[in-house]
Amino acid sequence: MTTTQGVLARVDTDFAALQGKWLDWLRIPSISAQPRHAADCRAAAEFARADLESLGFSARLVETPGHPVVLAHHAGPGGNAPHLLFYGHYDVQPPEPLELWHSAPFDPAIVDGPHGPRVVARGAVDDKGQVAMWLAAMRAWHAETGSLPVAITAVIEGEEEVGSVNLEAFLAAHAPELQADIAVISDTNMWDINTPAITTGLRGLVYLQIDIKAASRDLHSGMFGGSARNPINALTRALAALHEDNGRIAIPGFYDGVAELTNSQAVSWAALGFDESKFLGDIGLSIPAGEAGRGALERLWARPTCDVNGIWGGYAGPGAKTVIASEAGAKVSFRLVPGQNPVAIIEGFRQFMRAHLPADVQMNVQEFAHGPGIEVPAESRFVQAARDALAEEYGRPAVLAGCGGSIPVVGSLKRMLGLDSLLMGFGLDDDQIHSPNEKFEVACFRHGVRSHVRLLGLLAAG
Ligand code: BES
Ligand code: MN
Ligand code: MN
Repeated sequence: MTTTQGVLARVDTDFAALQGKWLDWLRIPSISAQPRHAADCRAAAEFARADLESLGFSARLVETPGHPVVLAHHAGPGGNAPHLLFYGHYDVQPPEPLELWHSAPFDPAIVDGPHGPRVVARGAVDDKGQVAMWLAAMRAWHAETGSLPVAITAVIEGEEEVGSVNLEAFLAAHAPELQADIAVISDTNMWDINTPAITTGLRGLVYLQIDIKAASRDLHSGMFGGSARNPINALTRALAALHEDNGRIAIPGFYDGVAELTNSQAVSWAALGFDESKFLGDIGLSIPAGEAGRGALERLWARPTCDVNGIWGGYAGPGAKTVIASEAGAKVSFRLVPGQNPVAIIEGFRQFMRAHLPADVQMNVQEFAHGPGIEVPAESRFVQAARDALAEEYGRPAVLAGCGGSIPVVGSLKRMLGLDSLLMGFGLDDDQIHSPNEKFEVACFRHGVRSHVRLLGLLAAG
C-alpha cells in the first residue's frame, strides 16, 4: 500500500471526526457584514488557528482594521518538496431572510437528499465546508505520517464576503512570509456531482450604491405631482437605460478590452453540453436573459453584466399612501471579465447616470468593492497534478470550467506576489450559497477531502 492509500484509508476510518470538526465550525456565526458578529468572526478564526496548530503548524491571528486573518506555516518534509499556499475564508454571508430556512442557519442539520446525506447551514460549503475539506486532508496526512508531505502556508481570511477590503494591505505587509509555488483554493464548483472541475477564470466585480435626492421633503402626490420631480421615476428610468434591448450594457466604453472567446474556449465549452433550460428550470425560470446571440456559458463565464441588487424609496408599507418621496437609491453591481478596467467602469457609470438624471436632482455614488476579471493558467505541473488527483478520485477527467462569481484574492495574489492560483472546488450549482438553506453534499465533502489527500501525495512525489 502506498502512503497516499494509507492516508485515504484514514479519511474513511476517521470520517466521523473529520465531519464533526466541519459541523463545529459551522456553529460559529461568523457573519463578516454584521458588526454585532465581530466576536464570532474572531472565534471562527481562533477555531481554525487552533486546528492548524494541532496539525503541527505555527499559527497565529493577524489583526486588520476589520476581521483577523489566520496565518499559519508548516515546513513539511524539507528537501525540494513544493510550497503550497492554501487560501480560504471563514466568514459567511448573512443568513437573512431567516423565515425561509427549514432549520436554524447556525445549527447544522444533516438531511437526506437524492445524493445521500447533506449538511444544511450557512457556510456549509461557502467557504467553511471547502476549507474544512483541506484541513481534513491535512489531518489525515498528519495522523498517518506524523507530518505533511509538502510545505504549506495557510491563509484564512474573514472578509471575503465583503470584498476582501483589508486583504491587499495584509498581503503587502506579509509578502516575504507568503512566498510559495502556487496558491490552492477550494471556493468554486464542480461541473456536476459526478464530474470534477478546475476553474480557469473568475469574473471581477464592481459594487456600487447610488443615492439620489430630489425635493427637500416628501410631497403630496396630488398637490405636487405633475410639477415636482419624482426621484423614483427618475432613478428607475436612468437604471433602465443601462441595458439596450439586446441585453448589451449602454455605458460608453463598457466593452473596452473585452475579448471574444478563443477558438479553444468556444470548442471546449460547447463540448460540455450545458443545458440552460435545466439550469433555469431548477430555479423556476424558462427564458434566458443577458446578451442576445451569445452562448449560455459564454454569457455566464466570459461576458460582463450589470444588475440592480436592491432598490428603495418612497412608501412600501401596507395600503396606499399618496406621496412623492424626496429620495431614492439602488445597489448596482457589475461582473467584469478580463481586460475591463474596474476604475473606468465606475467612472463610466457615474457619468452615464449623471447624464440620464435631471439636472436638479442630486446624485451620490459610493463604491463598496472593485476587482478585475482574471484568468488562471490551465497548464502547469500543479494543474496537471490536480487533474490527475481528480481523475483518480472520480474515475473521469476534470472539466476545465469558467466561473461567473468572484474571489478577490486571486487577482491580488497574482498582481502583488506573482502567485498563480489552482482553483479546485467541490460545490454544486444547487448548493444555494448566499441563500436560505445553503447545503453541502457529504459526498462532495468526502471526495473533496480525498482529492486534496491525493493532490498532496502527487505533489510530494514530484
Ligand atoms: N465562493 C464565492 C465565489 C463563487 C461564486 C464561486 C459562485 C462559485 C460560484 C465567493 O465566496 C463569493 O461569494 N464571492 C463574492 C465576492 C464579492 C463579495 C467581492 C461574489 O462573487 O459575489
Ligand atoms: Mn466563497
Ligand atoms: Mn460567497
